[in-house]
Amino acid sequence: MKIRDKMLSVLQPVGGKEEVEELRDTIESGWWAKGPKVAKFEKEFAEMVGAKYAIAVTSATHGQDLVLKALEIKDCDIINPTISFMTTAVVPLWNNCTTNIVDVDPYTMCMDPEDVRRSLKPNTKAIIAVNQAGVPADIDAIREFYDGFILEDCAHSCYTPGAGTKGDIAVWSFQAVKTMPCGDGGMITLNDKELYEKLVSMTWLGITSTYSRVKNMHSDKPGYSWDYEVDLLGYKCYMIDIMASICLQQMKKLPKNLEWRRHVQKRYNEELADCIIAPPHSETVQYYCAKVPPEHRDMLIDYLASKNIHTSVHFKPLHKYNVVKSMNQREYPVADVEWKKLISLPCHPGMNDEDIDYVMYWVREYFAEMKHTYVTDDYMVHHGAIVEERK
Ligand SMILES: Cc1ncc(COP(=O)(O)O)c(C=O)c1O
Repeated sequence: MKIRDKMLSVLQPVGGKEEVEELRDTIESGWWAKGPKVAKFEKEFAEMVGAKYAIAVTSATHGQDLVLKALEIKDCDIINPTISFMTTAVVPLWNNCTTNIVDVDPYTMCMDPEDVRRSLKPNTKAIIAVNQAGVPADIDAIREFYDGFILEDCAHSCYTPGAGTKGDIAVWSFQAVKTMPCGDGGMITLNDKELYEKLVSMTWLGITSTYSRVKNMHSDKPGYSWDYEVDLLGYKCYMIDIMASICLQQMKKLPKNLEWRRHVQKRYNEELADCIIAPPHSETVQYYCAKVPPEHRDMLIDYLASKNIHTSVHFKPLHKYNVVKSMNQREYPVADVEWKKLISLPCHPGMNDEDIDYVMYWVREYFAEMKHTYVTDDYMVHHGAIVEERK
């Protein structure tokens, strides 16, 4: 097959005239900051995920940090999984906490409840449970022995039915390559009214929104109520209408986009079964995290790159990063083995079936060139057995 001139991205946002029209409407309305579009988006999002309240913020990272600050979770220990993005390791540090990193389940790659149990400390005040690549973390199993605060990291599970309902609070991401992207953005969802009001206020330095004062939502007097009081320490991390405009349109396209992602997942699963270990089913397929024999992973990445196919790894374990290494001097027997097999293949709504064919052709070619018969390889036999056992 001819090598393409244009690179195929591993992840990519796709927008169209609907996003452009919504943005035009916002720009021409004269209200660009936090206003009616954010309010509409928050309402629709809360309905979609079955939460009473939703607060749109600038990113999931800011959302997680804000939640810890609002709940005054500080100077303590916070448990989170090693297969995750840097956010979950760093947000505890910002709050003067220790990042207590735990190992993962070899199949789901989500935090291993048994390791959570073993890692609990007297001063553990929170667990950040990540739904890795859209696969739900086993929060039910954690709940059997832990009744403290759980922040459900839903950055990859927008939207998996039931996601965001197992933890005490959920935080979602609309960063540029997520399933419902707007460039950068996030959402906090919860059911507690008092905490909701506190969080809203904390998204802007404790100030009530200008829109609500322009619309006179807090006063009977005519005109713009320019004055406000500040009783609470907050910072600035609210979403603005420009970003919400994109989210509103992306949300309409979400069911179709997710259906497409699952189609990509199904094709890779079925048609590459003799080359890769398929990941567990994901409703969102935020990342298609295949596994290959570790000795081939990096060579396959380079080989596909030479065919103009970008891949990635989700994720290198967090305990390997200097910023948290010293506080996690222990063994990670599962993650240390499993992560070396991970390779994320292209999966996004900007692809078509020909693109999937193209990726699969070159994956197969790689293994053919390596003259490696994976079906009979010990590795495949071993992992095939694990997959069968879990069915
Ligand atoms: C598991 C996880 N949590 C949190 C985040 C942070 O999201 P954001 O970029 O919106 O801050 C990411 C981003 O990729 C993520 O993968």
